[in-house]
Amino acid sequence: MDSTVTVTDNRTEKQYTFPITHGTIRAMDLRKIKAGPEDFGIMSYDPAFMNTASCVSKITFIDGDKGILRYRGYDIADLAEHCTFPQAAYLVIHGELPTPEQENEWLAALRIHMGIFENIKKFTEGFRYDAHPMGMLVSTMAALSTFYPDSKDVRNHDVQVKCISRIIGKIPIIAAYGYRHSKGLEYISPEPSLGYAENFMHMMWDRSPLEHLKHPVLARALDVLFILHIDHEQNCSANAMRAVGSSEADPFLSTAAAAAALAGPLHGGANEAVLKMLDEIGSKENIPAFIKGVKEGKEKLMGFGHRVYKNYDPRARMIKKTAESVFEITGRSKKIDLAMELERIALNDDYFISRKLYPNVDFYSGIIYEAMGLEAKMFTVLFAIPRAVGWLAQWQELINDPEQKIARPRQVYTGYDQRKLPDSYTYGVRTEDAVATTR
Ligand code: ACO
Repeated sequence: MDSTVTVTDNRTEKQYTFPITHGTIRAMDLRKIKAGPEDFGIMSYDPAFMNTASCVSKITFIDGDKGILRYRGYDIADLAEHCTFPQAAYLVIHGELPTPEQENEWLAALRIHMGIFENIKKFTEGFRYDAHPMGMLVSTMAALSTFYPDSKDVRNHDVQVKCISRIIGKIPIIAAYGYRHSKGLEYISPEPSLGYAENFMHMMWDRSPLEHLKHPVLARALDVLFILHIDHEQNCSANAMRAVGSSEADPFLSTAAAAAALAGPLHGGANEAVLKMLDEIGSKENIPAFIKGVKEGKEKLMGFGHRVYKNYDPRARMIKKTAESVFEITGRSKKIDLAMELERIALNDDYFISRKLYPNVDFYSGIIYEAMGLEAKMFTVLFAIPRAVGWLAQWQELINDPEQKIARPRQVYTGYDQRKLPDSYTYGVRTEDAVATTR
């Protein structure tokens, strides 16, 4: 079969044939379609990038209709079940699972960078007591850029490798310090001999009223949650990472920009909304009335539906499973039973069936985080810690892709045509104003 597409320009009746590669045509080919020699050529208009591939990537594969998510070819469920977060992070960054030697080197590199300058502690102390942890994370990540001027040399492979370890090593420290600051608790230094999630829990809970939550089963659950959140191809924050990174801003600044994108409620904040919704529903008897309201368009069933998944989000399945191990330690959350009943009713209702609305990653993640003692304000921060790995993999792929350039979309201009400046304006000062001041 010929992998080309032919279009006819009805303005000129000329035909153009373009190659189809990986199911795409080159948007630049459209520019060959011109109404006349002076014509700029056709562009595609795609607000929100609904149907535009911005890059070629080898990192993450999603089939939204089948509910498939793979990192570097491995199913997310297999990785979550059989790997540690650092192993999965190595895979996403390097493209292959680590050998034992590579894993040791990787862990050593992360350990070396699990430290933070004293000035950064002081920087964190400057935030108000009620500062949002995501705001603190974004700002502190950007501030780290000033400590590592070598990170500006983004095309240098050694710099790339070092910055990746620095950011993955430091992001849990920044997150935990932000939390401790908001609670008025002293900062706990990292303990690099611990596992990645275990160390995060150590920095969060040590010498605090929640010290009992430093539990190996909960640390493993967090490790699994971290794996599930590593990457999700060209989502809003990955796109921000690539857009800012394409200007050759250093990776700390690009990561700060990506984290800022994640902070929005349409991206990283839906799990918080699920908890609020479950609180409002209150008990199982109220579910039918709530569903009726959803179907009448009065509200949304939060944690359901996805732009890409038109099937069960595989991450939601894993989180549901992990929740059971958490509840064995923390006691069963009433919210999980309510959520499961809500899911059961929704998945049997034609409104949700016909629209292919299934639970997404956020439907169960807030419930499990809450059971682990993590408060709603921290949910997006917990998303950002593992997602930094995905952002950095996307960033490195972008920097090393010879086809990429600075990201610079086109626009369709619908404003005024050329206008003449009124005579009353001279050097930006309106003459009647100038007259008024001399009176
Ligand atoms: N509850 C009720 N109805 C819904 C829901 C929902 N959660 N989601 C979509 N629908 C309905 C829409 O009203 C629409 O119905 P219509 O065809 O009768 O008008 C239809 O399903 C299609 O929905 P769209 O809004 O076109 O889907 P889109 O891809 O634009 O939105 C989104 C996806 C934003 C995730 C949406 O499903 C939603 O708002 N869900 C709730 C919020 C949420 O859980 N967000 C987390 C996403 S996961 C993540 O970002 C990590």
